[in-house]
Amino acid sequence: MGIKVENIFYTYQKKASNSTLALDNVSLNIEENDFVAIIGETGSGKSTLAQTFNALIVPDQGQVQVNDFAVSYKNRKSKKVRNLRKQVGLVFQFPEYQLFEETVEKDVAFGLKNFGEKNEEAIAAAHRALRKVGLDESYYKRPPFELSGGERRKVAIAGILAINPDILVFDEPTVGFDPASAKELMSLIVNLHMSGKTIIVITHDMDLVNEYAKKVFMLEKGKVIFEGTPSELFNNAKQYDCLEIPMVIKLALALKEKGADIDLNKIHTTDDLLEEIKRWRGKHE
Ligand SMILES: Nc1ncnc2c1ncn2[C@@H]1O[C@H](COP(=O)(O)OP(=O)(O)OP(=O)(O)O)[C@@H](O)[C@H]1O
Ligand SMILES: [Mg+2]
Repeated sequence: MGIKVENIFYTYQKKASNSTLALDNVSLNIEENDFVAIIGETGSGKSTLAQTFNALIVPDQGQVQVNDFAVSYKNRKSKKVRNLRKQVGLVFQFPEYQLFEETVEKDVAFGLKNFGEKNEEAIAAAHRALRKVGLDESYYKRPPFELSGGERRKVAIAGILAINPDILVFDEPTVGFDPASAKELMSLIVNLHMSGKTIIVITHDMDLVNEYAKKVFMLEKGKVIFEGTPSELFNNAKQYDCLEIPMVIKLALALKEKGADIDLNKIHTTDDLLEEIKRWRGKHE
């Protein structure tokens, strides 16, 4: 089972005169073990949508079916919400601002302990999660505030991994990272996907979407305006004003204009482009 979003609406500050309709009749399906990107302009509702997946935000209308639980207004106080939060791990935008324990290992173990895990086991799981994100034992006892921004984000991610959810949602995970750190983090996410996790990444980075996502949902003003593969999205880029075309697709388009016979559907990385160029050149030699 994955996530089935059915006709959800959500308004912030419902009673105020400046209320915002952040989700406007959103429906979508995310299959188990999929790798999905959610994109859209600033303020389009991406983070709001993501927070409905583990009931941090409960839709005013409609429901979000996750495995055997329906997130809905009626169920908002159900005891099963706790269980849902174990199944869906949400890594917030800039999660590094939410570290507060005095050591890295305590911070990473915090979530698990909250779910009732014994201290020793929670700390052991924290150590495993920290190693997964590339932080070795020299980090365990350090205070989080001493770390760099990137290291703190890794600690925050480890805190979610320690809980071992089936579904992982990353809200702009690579923002502010240098290219090498971004690549390292994406490799970790790919490994999690290969180990059977369902991955949902919210991002403004179209190179990332093209390279990693199997499916894309685009939001605009709280509505889903596109659903399909990255290739389908970038092939129809002209329809969407603000859509940034990935660098490698731009290159492929420029080569096509010069007469190269390149299949855009195959281009996700520079290696793919190289392969296509070789194939095309091969035909002409
Ligand atoms: N806590 C809040 N109180 C009031 N309005 C909010 C709140 N959070 C978000 N909004 C509004 O709801 C709409 C959707 O916001 P949301 O944060 O989901 O967008 P987003 O797509 O994640 O944007 P970004 O790319 O900037 O992160 C926006 O108009 C935003 O101003
Ligand atoms: Mg957001």
